[in-house]
Amino acid sequence: MQTHTQSARSAAYLQLEEQYGAHNYHPLPVVLEKGSGIYLWDVEGKRYMDFLSGYSAVNQGHCHPAIIATLIEQAQKLTLTSRAFHNNLLGEYAAYITRYFGYDKVLPMNTGVEGGETAIKLARRWAYTRKGVPENKAKIVFANGNFWGRTLAAISASTDPSSYKGFGPYMPGFELVPYNDTQALEKAFQDKHVAAFMVEPIQGEAGVVIPDEGYLSKVRALCTEYQVLLIADEIQTGLARTGKMLACDHENVRPDILILGKALSGGVLPVSAVLADDEIMLGIQPGEHGSTYGGNPLACAVAMKALAVLKEEKMAENAEAMGKVLRDALAGLNSPFIHTVRGKGLLNAIVIQHHNPEAAWDLCMELMQHGLLAKPTHGDKIRLAPPLLINQTQITEAVAIIQQSLNVLA
Ligand SMILES: Cc1ncc(COP(=O)(O)O)c(C=O)c1O
Repeated sequence: MQTHTQSARSAAYLQLEEQYGAHNYHPLPVVLEKGSGIYLWDVEGKRYMDFLSGYSAVNQGHCHPAIIATLIEQAQKLTLTSRAFHNNLLGEYAAYITRYFGYDKVLPMNTGVEGGETAIKLARRWAYTRKGVPENKAKIVFANGNFWGRTLAAISASTDPSSYKGFGPYMPGFELVPYNDTQALEKAFQDKHVAAFMVEPIQGEAGVVIPDEGYLSKVRALCTEYQVLLIADEIQTGLARTGKMLACDHENVRPDILILGKALSGGVLPVSAVLADDEIMLGIQPGEHGSTYGGNPLACAVAMKALAVLKEEKMAENAEAMGKVLRDALAGLNSPFIHTVRGKGLLNAIVIQHHNPEAAWDLCMELMQHGLLAKPTHGDKIRLAPPLLINQTQITEAVAIIQQSLNVLA
């Protein structure tokens, strides 16, 4: 593994985390203290281009002025009431987001994984009350390689041993099929106890795995045919990241349950949402689901602004255009160390080709030295997902950094 010389200042921050924080992450050794647009600055004042965007939570760019202004204004008025009482923003937010995405109702939560848990509870309830599945027999189907978080339910659906190993026993009622395989899905749907198929339109954490064109629309058709709910986990792919407001929009697919998170707050605070129509959403009655922070007025105000900014600044269109520029430029490098360049909009990955299994990590260390932050996923893949306001000059600059940094693998 490549070593990196840190200043005494950075080293002190690293040491504090190492000594007092749980060791559940392996970050690059950079200590950040400021962000604006696509840029981040470390504690030494060095500037970086951010090519991770907080795992796609910062689609609107770091500290977006309009989102931060809304945050400050609302924080000075009211931040949390709990759902024991009403607040003056939840209704407005619910109307705004349901019209924005075209659903009857929203259930507000905080983190992405809570959104996933909520969707599964809704699907199970729907299966018992609407589909006639016998009590406690409902099944949820997932695709191999899925990632939707770290709760016990989420890891029970995982095929990645580093997620699930050593944390059993696991949640029952979950089934797995290969991703991008509608035959296997149809076979799984022969079981009348299947309530839902929960799927990412592009698998982000798995390394930006893009299914064949037509996969999602075939999935939609099968779900309809077999009376199975389609749950789209758009927590990473949604909100303009892939060049459309939702990745499902590329195939004009409307999921029965839509899960959003991450960029729903522009990276300001945890805000997630589950959207569905009344037939599904009204299956849950008062007292049967909730969260202390879900639907808090601060989150409602910030989320409305974060959504408005995506449209006002045409971020989906920019992601679509800049994604093409980025992929073309990377392909044009003809590097022997880049096996594949793939992606949609600004959710992209390069797959590294090298005898050294640490090559992707080494490249990310080198990119960091040259002022670009990215992180390997699953060993040999590096996700390239900058904030969606990136421009062509900045893409050109980033590709030059990548080209120069690839020399470290020679
Ligand atoms: C597709 C997808 N779903 C769910 C999650 C979980 O979100 P959170 O970390 O906010 O719980 C993630 C996080 O990376 C994700 O990529």
